[in-house]
Amino acid sequence: MANYVLTTFCVCLHLSFVLSAIVPVSNSSASLDPVLSESCQILGQRFPNQLHWPGTEQYTNENSLYWSKTTLVTPYCIFTPENANHVSAAVIELHRTQTQFAVRSGGHMPVKGAAGTNQGVLIAMTRMNSTALSTDGGIASIGPGLRWGDVYNWLSTEDRVVVGGRYAPVGVSGVLLGGGMSHFSATHGWAANNVVNFELVLANGTIASANATANSDLFWALKGSSSNHGIVVRFDLRTYPASPMYAGTISYEESQVQQFLHAFQNWLSPGGGIRDEATAIVPALFIYPEERSVQANIVVLQNNYTLNQTVPKSLQGFVNISSASNTAHVRTYPDFLTETTQYGNRSNRNTFYATSLLATADAVRLINETIPPIALSMLEGVQNSFVGLSMQPVTKSHLQAARDAGGDALDLDPNDGDFIAFNLVVEYTNEQDDATVISFNTAALQALDTASKAANIYYPFQFLNDAGAGEQVFSLYGKGKSLERMKSIRRAYDPDGVFQDLMPGGFKIGV
Ligand SMILES: Cc1cc2nc3c(=O)[nH]c(=O)nc-3n(C[C@H](O)[C@H](O)[C@H](O)COP(=O)(O)OP(=O)(O)OC[C@H]3O[C@@H](n4cnc5c(N)ncnc54)[C@H](O)[C@@H]3O)c2cc1C
Ligand SMILES: *[C@@H]1O[C@H](CO)[C@@H](O)[C@H](O)[C@H]1NC(C)=O
Ligand SMILES: *[C@@H]1O[C@H](CO)[C@@H](O)[C@H](O)[C@H]1NC(C)=O
Ligand SMILES: *[C@@H]1O[C@H](CO)[C@@H](O)[C@H](O)[C@H]1NC(C)=O
Ligand SMILES: *[C@@H]1O[C@H](CO)[C@@H](O)[C@H](O)[C@H]1NC(C)=O
Ligand SMILES: *[C@@H]1O[C@H](CO)[C@@H](O)[C@H](O)[C@H]1NC(C)=O
Ligand SMILES: *[C@@H]1O[C@H](CO)[C@@H](O)[C@H](O)[C@H]1NC(C)=O
Ligand SMILES: *[C@@H]1O[C@H](CO)[C@@H](O)[C@H](O)[C@H]1NC(C)=O
Ligand SMILES: *[C@@H]1O[C@H](CO)[C@@H](O)[C@H](O)[C@H]1NC(C)=O
Ligand SMILES: *[C@@H]1O[C@H](CO)[C@@H](O)[C@H](O)[C@H]1NC(C)=O
Repeated sequence: MANYVLTTFCVCLHLSFVLSAIVPVSNSSASLDPVLSESCQILGQRFPNQLHWPGTEQYTNENSLYWSKTTLVTPYCIFTPENANHVSAAVIELHRTQTQFAVRSGGHMPVKGAAGTNQGVLIAMTRMNSTALSTDGGIASIGPGLRWGDVYNWLSTEDRVVVGGRYAPVGVSGVLLGGGMSHFSATHGWAANNVVNFELVLANGTIASANATANSDLFWALKGSSSNHGIVVRFDLRTYPASPMYAGTISYEESQVQQFLHAFQNWLSPGGGIRDEATAIVPALFIYPEERSVQANIVVLQNNYTLNQTVPKSLQGFVNISSASNTAHVRTYPDFLTETTQYGNRSNRNTFYATSLLATADAVRLINETIPPIALSMLEGVQNSFVGLSMQPVTKSHLQAARDAGGDALDLDPNDGDFIAFNLVVEYTNEQDDATVISFNTAALQALDTASKAANIYYPFQFLNDAGAGEQVFSLYGKGKSLERMKSIRRAYDPDGVFQDLMPGGFKIGV
């Protein structure tokens, strides 16, 4: 190891001498780091159009592509690969020089350091945005730098759809690697269950396929393991015929919140709308602590809409309540997703946290009783604060479809029944409120978990895509059984722990 460091240091001195005249390095204290300087300069020399230094327009643009301002950091340099060979070359170089790095696709994970680095090289996947459809239309091959809106817009010209993210501006990579909650999950499982093949760069730079027949252990792990096993450079997704849908967003004033909660409780009850597998809903309470107001909002959708000008039975209970606004009507999926472009707004600070409860009327009551009072008392002084309590139903049919498609690292049991994947979302403006928001998140989650455990409806699952810093998501996968297998797969494909130690951001399985 000592020799190794010495060697790279010497190469560095040599290269800085050669390159110092042409390479602008704006941060002089960071430029003293010989390992980083060497890695960036070598990559810049080999790939001058892909390597960006602070102060350049490309660096500034790339470094702004994060959804939450809490995640903004200052990488030493930014690498923007255009193909798998570029990614492979970067991984080999960063591995060789033991340089820290991060990978960013859509930049939507609101966890500091998940897709950014203050001391290393950022690999930004933005330019890897290719799309290709197989000749029979059955498989869509998509680049890891795409956002879901681009994917659905492109596929709609072919009358196809994929099982993917529900918000147009979010990145495809993070959603698929964390499992992925889709509007079509009740019939097709997690979005990841619809990936037929991952092309990825392994720790030694090899470009490999992971699918049901090649590297099948890795294929299983990649469906849920986030950034632990490699850098995905292409996803091959099964497609389905597009069809009209009944879809939109309904919002309710404070005075209707009671009726909304009852409608949701009815929807979850035996024979309720939850059993219509073409239907997806995202019910939420919206809390505005400064105004001391609790409102409600629900996304409603029935796919494969066959009725004529009639509200689907599964959604009637929500439509019946008098609402502040209701955009639901028959439309295409891309048209509906234009309602989600606001989620590309990058001017706020945000946090996510996740927990789960069995999908009963009690769960809805507990969420409503526990969290709003805490938000109103703890966040009243937090400027422009907003709290979303997203109560996403995950159905038995969703979990069965996941298993029928070959399973995944999340490995949830359909026999456990329907559950609510609860996502606690906070939005606010000022950095000085970070600590208050974290305290609120901790207090709110603790109160809810305590209440759900007492009521015997706690469900041990934290959805990675909605999880926050410090949550131990992988230890809950497969009721604790997946983690060891994920680690042994890591040892086989990444014996040096490149994606653990050199790329430490986000959710890690550990060694
Ligand atoms: C507004 C909004 C809406 C959302 N809607 C949904 C939804 O409908 N369904 C759902 O399941 N989730 C949803 N999420 C959660 C979302 O899945 C996660 O935030 C996800 O991480 C975002 O993916 P990204 O590519 O934008 O993230 P990034 O922040 O770019 O990446 C997330 C993590 O994945 C790693 N990573 C990125 N690209 C790669 C790659 N190519 N190979 C290996 N590792 C990689 C990063 O290093 C990072 O650790 C939503 C989030 C937001 C903010
Ligand atoms: C320069 O880099 C150092 C070390 O990474 C960091 O602490 C400092 O804030 C940076 N300064 C500027 C102006 O970016
Ligand atoms: C891919 O990126 C290129 C260059 O940035 C851009 O011109 C093109 O529109 C993008 N394509 C898609 C499908 O997003
Ligand atoms: C799986 O990977 C192998 C090896 O690269 C490849 O030949 C095969 O076509 C892949 N299968 C799918 C479904 O992509
Ligand atoms: C809609 O229904 C058709 C016909 O049953 C089916 O082929 C298609 O896969 C369905 N779409 C989705 C997204 O499930
Ligand atoms: C839908 O209803 C309208 C108005 O009642 C009618 O004109 C139209 O023919 C109907 N379409 C179908 C497909 O039933
Ligand atoms: C919705 O309202 C209609 C008309 O008032 C009524 O017939 C129906 O029973 C209501 N349905 C639900 C689920 O509330
Ligand atoms: C983005 O959010 C900020 C802060 O909430 C708001 O002021 C601004 O209008 C939003 N921008 C867009 C384009 O919606
Ligand atoms: C929701 O909370 C409010 C305020 O605490 C309470 O008045 C109401 O009864 C609760 N509703 C349900 C359905 O739990
Ligand atoms: C790279 O790692 C893979 C997975 O462990 C292994 O199969 C392959 O032989 C390695 N390639 C080289 C060149 O070492």
